[in-house]
Amino acid sequence: MNPLRSSVLSALLPPGVVVVGTRVGLPVLAMATLRLSSSSSFFAYQQQKVGLTAPQRPPSSFASTSPPPPLVVCSIPDRHHLPLSHSSAEASSGRISLGFCTRQSVGFCTRQQSWNRNLAVVAAAASVTEVGGGGSSSTISREEVVREDDPTNNVPDTVFGKIGLQLHNRKSHPLGILKNAIYSYFDETFPGVFHKVDNLLPIVSVKANFDDVLTPPDHVSRSYNDTYYVTADTVLRCHTSAHQAELLRQGLTHFLVTGDVYRRDAIDATHYPVFHQMEGLRVFTQQEWEAAGMDGTALAAQELKKTLEGLARHLFGDVQMRWVDTYFPFTDPSYELEIFFQGKWMEVLGCGVTEQQILCNNGCAGTTAWAFGLGLERLAMVLFDIPDIRLFWSNDSRFTSQFKSGQLGTKFKSFSKYPPCYKDISFWISDEFSENNLCEIVRGIAGDLVEEVVLIDEFTNPKKGKTSHCYRIAYRSMERSLTDDEINALQAEVRQQVESKLKITLR
Ligand code: DAH
Repeated sequence: MNPLRSSVLSALLPPGVVVVGTRVGLPVLAMATLRLSSSSSFFAYQQQKVGLTAPQRPPSSFASTSPPPPLVVCSIPDRHHLPLSHSSAEASSGRISLGFCTRQSVGFCTRQQSWNRNLAVVAAAASVTEVGGGGSSSTISREEVVREDDPTNNVPDTVFGKIGLQLHNRKSHPLGILKNAIYSYFDETFPGVFHKVDNLLPIVSVKANFDDVLTPPDHVSRSYNDTYYVTADTVLRCHTSAHQAELLRQGLTHFLVTGDVYRRDAIDATHYPVFHQMEGLRVFTQQEWEAAGMDGTALAAQELKKTLEGLARHLFGDVQMRWVDTYFPFTDPSYELEIFFQGKWMEVLGCGVTEQQILCNNGCAGTTAWAFGLGLERLAMVLFDIPDIRLFWSNDSRFTSQFKSGQLGTKFKSFSKYPPCYKDISFWISDEFSENNLCEIVRGIAGDLVEEVVLIDEFTNPKKGKTSHCYRIAYRSMERSLTDDEINALQAEVRQQVESKLKITLR
């Protein structure tokens, strides 16, 4: 980094903000515009987001043992433009391995999983029923995941209800179609080489989710405000990178891991607390880099770019691409791949050359590797023209019947656009206030009927030293018209719960 720019920037930043990386150019606020849902760049992004707002505490009912993280601004990208040629997406088929769940318990079909328990269960409507799927079986009950009396647990029922649905394993669901299209690319490019894993339990240890991929102890992604904690030592995975170390230890050297991931977040058309990611990792041996006449890192970086450019062409056709330098705790160098699609630059995935420490700690000393992570919803929203992330969860046949196995890029036709209804809520905040906690309450009450929660007004009364926020909540069903009575009842409940749970004063 230019030392002059660095010191000028540092002087402008609040105390505690650390400037990391080799280039810092864009104003911190501008970085916020890079934020997109289901993003593969959570870790990169989190580094930027904290530059915008103070670290947020869990709500009073959630104990936080972690100190507020230091603020970090990460390196700003270099941009390279790569004109690329066309390749069409291949139809593909994949096995379906559906998990089912009731609100009481969930089941998974697994070959390998992270919890030392082999799960292979279908939870039927009222009672739990075991189904086939190799090995012993077990269930996860609501009580294991939603612990209202445990201050270290912050998993709401709305989120528990999503565990086990495995949208990515439904062959005719947009997420399943996309997953299979990516599988096809790897199968065609590297026949028989990549091992595919798509049924790992989303409840993982804090160690697997954070420590094993070198997430610093004070990284903001570990906070209760951003991650769902089941216990102090287990979380709902916030990225599929949580499985890297475990799969390396199992001896896998070429793998793709797909699964549902969970993050506490804002509410809008592109953010949902549960979404899906695919992680890829490929190990290189010394023999391979010597044969290529390169050093191990250079070979991994070169192969990474070649492989992922090919993947982007496979999915998007003849698009312009660029590589953007970024920061992830688990890779160095780290990049994001962007494509120029529908008139704008869009981040497709995050990736990089795996940190040596991860390889050494997990039985792969003396090797190098590339790794990537991509958000399936984000890509599926543009590939299938799906305007709202809630639609992925819809069981309405007017949605589900529009997609066919193997048909990537069928354009979704809106079956009807019901009008939104807006309701405002204003209150004086306290120091503990966090927007994610507000959103969780609204989602807990309105479920998928809430489309957006936006801060529309904010001011501080200097005499009282108090700050007021006004949020506008957009209620809209994707499937039907809502009645005034229904919305008023939801809003009344929101007001009541916000007041009782968030330590704010309604205005
Ligand atoms: N885990 C990252 C995220 O969720 C995505 C990612 C970036 C995965 C780089 C990787 C990687 O394996 O190398 O934001």
